[in-house]
Amino acid sequence: MPGKNTFAMIKPDAIKKACIGPILNKIHLAGFDIIALKMSKLSKEEAQSFYIIHKEQRFFESLVNFISSGPIVAAVLEKENAVENFRTLIGSTNPQEAAGGTIRKLYAESIEQNAIHGSDSDQNALKEIAFHFSRRELL
Ligand code: RTP
Ligand code: MG
Repeated sequence: MPGKNTFAMIKPDAIKKACIGPILNKIHLAGFDIIALKMSKLSKEEAQSFYIIHKEQRFFESLVNFISSGPIVAAVLEKENAVENFRTLIGSTNPQEAAGGTIRKLYAESIEQNAIHGSDSDQNALKEIAFHFSRRELL
């Protein structure tokens, strides 16, 4: 059975454009409960570790530089079938291919600076939540 939690991260491009509020509002309106929330800034090493599955990709270094270039907002979300429903809400990796009304269609600039991250499996959601939040921060 799919899990009810996923991990979301608003990326530095969306924060620079003052889009934290509109994006969190859209997440609420789509029926997700925000059960943990934190702004932080990842070091280069932390960004490498977070995106380690992409270490062989040609875009890895650029991705790591981008993600560690400014603050991010990390969130734990709750809804039924959370991972899949949230991936639908954020849209395709490339905003030009993202469906109308999705967060990436509305707020992303490019395939790299694409406003938001969403976990791609229940297992990765648990890992990513543990990466960003201590037990004390999880209500
Ligand atoms: P995310 O993990 O951030 O939710 O994004 P995703 O699943 O839609 O895409 P993924 O394939 O996991 O890629 C992770 C992030 O790497 C950047 N990227 N750049 N320059 C490029 O061709 C390229 N491709 C991917 C994006 O920031 C993407 O979200
Ligand atoms: Mg991904």
